[in-house]
Amino acid sequence: MSEEKLKILFLSPEVVPFAKTGGLADVAGSLPGALKRMGIDIRSVLPFYRTVSEGDFEIRPLPDELEVPLGTELLKAKVLETRTQDDVPFYLIDREDLYDRRNLYGNPTGDYYDNLERFVFFAHAALRLAENLRFKPDVVHCHDWQTGLVPALLKGPYRNNPNLSGTSSVFTIHNIGYQGIFPEEKLVITGLPRDEFFRIDGLEFWGNISLLKAGIVYSDAVTTVSLKYAQEIQTPEYGMGMEGILQARRTFLHGILNGVDYGLWDPRHDAHIPASYSPQKMAGKSRCKEALLKEMGLDESLKSRPLLGVISRLDSQKGFDLLVELLEDILALDVGLVVLGSGDETIQKAIEEAAERHPGRVGLFIGFNEPLAHRIMAGADIFLIPSRYEPCGLTQMYALRYGTVPVVRATGGLEDTIVQFDPKTNKGNGFKFGPFNSKAFLNAIKKAIDCFRVPETWKRLMLNGMKADFSWDRSARQYIELYRSIIKGSTNNIKVS
Ligand code: ADP
Ligand code: GLC
Repeated sequence: MSEEKLKILFLSPEVVPFAKTGGLADVAGSLPGALKRMGIDIRSVLPFYRTVSEGDFEIRPLPDELEVPLGTELLKAKVLETRTQDDVPFYLIDREDLYDRRNLYGNPTGDYYDNLERFVFFAHAALRLAENLRFKPDVVHCHDWQTGLVPALLKGPYRNNPNLSGTSSVFTIHNIGYQGIFPEEKLVITGLPRDEFFRIDGLEFWGNISLLKAGIVYSDAVTTVSLKYAQEIQTPEYGMGMEGILQARRTFLHGILNGVDYGLWDPRHDAHIPASYSPQKMAGKSRCKEALLKEMGLDESLKSRPLLGVISRLDSQKGFDLLVELLEDILALDVGLVVLGSGDETIQKAIEEAAERHPGRVGLFIGFNEPLAHRIMAGADIFLIPSRYEPCGLTQMYALRYGTVPVVRATGGLEDTIVQFDPKTNKGNGFKFGPFNSKAFLNAIKKAIDCFRVPETWKRLMLNGMKADFSWDRSARQYIELYRSIIKGSTNNIKVS
């Protein structure tokens, strides 16, 4: 089979530029384009959320409606089509009562009560859509728990479907912490026969249904987003109860590191930042820093002192409780701090209070703000990511490209992408700490600050990061190799990781 003919149906619950809560959206927005450039026939499917209907996208309705089973009902859905800059077709499943809501998955008080129905519907709709389009995928590539039902449907109710009988599936875990757990009584909604699927070696998880587990058990290959995380999730410390099933499926489990879309994240041509720069022409970086200090109301004198930046969901995964413990110690080091984040209110409050105690030294923006994220990437000197766990992490790779030196905990993708800097040899691109405690974090920050104070060393360190290349090509090639190895009837059993 030639590469041109490989057909991939790509299912993600969030995609840049249509809908985003985190890095999965960045990945699902740029990997399909990279695959398409390599000759893959790829079609993507996404719910028609309110962010899409209210956005500025060129969208056209498809003539045929879908008939989609949901439990005992057969419901209708409209489908819309749009294309990204990479010319990848995106199909939007339009069902107002399920997806036309303020947020993607829930509101500040909790998840939407009907998330199972919403994503079961999406799973069936995507498979029905392929049939309507007469698109016979070789592989359905599913991302995170919201699409975890699909591999099970392919092995169950759709196994004799003429359009899908030859279709394999890949399930990518972006975060094992989100497991799509619902009560057993809701199994009937999925359309899966109970005897065959509600089993300990099926999607049963401590008496409940787990759609993440369904994806892990029933797909033909499981991937996660770094090699290190692929190892970590097989241990009780990181596996969050899924380590047993992942160990059992370890020969099907691959680590493929995410890439970066340098079309969006590169200070050479980033439309969100006030001045462009590159390794050859660094002056723009200082201008970005000055503008950021001004925007966040920080002291101008920080121009020549280290400015630490944070852009993150503030939840337990990201480890900013360590930052809270260290606020006074860090500010005693004569630095500034800029934080963009949303989530945990205790963390927000502690940073707000530090800002009051240290006027002009701490800037905080609570909320989701894409342009500001770019301006912080460009304007900060040091970027902090003290994660408890981090499947891949994209912001450390973005920071490298912007010459903003990452200080990270050595876990998951952070361990795989950041190389400890050694001022003696000038090798490395950032600073890492191992044990999850504030002392280790503070030590790593201090090492970074020591280097900052030696301009020649600092310049070298920045350039090491800026020259690193995490573009998608390598990872896209690994996915293609994997797709080929699992295509039905394939004898090509290549291990990609
Ligand atoms: P995760 O997906 O676990 O949140 P990643 O590092 O993979 O972590 O991706 C986070 C993405 O979300 C990055 O694109 C980052 O810039 C963005 N992001 C996180 N928090 C915010 C925020 N408050 N405002 C804007 N962008 C944010
Ligand atoms: C998840 C992970 C993050 C990863 C992203 C994209 O949200 O927390 O580490 O980079 O998915 O794969």
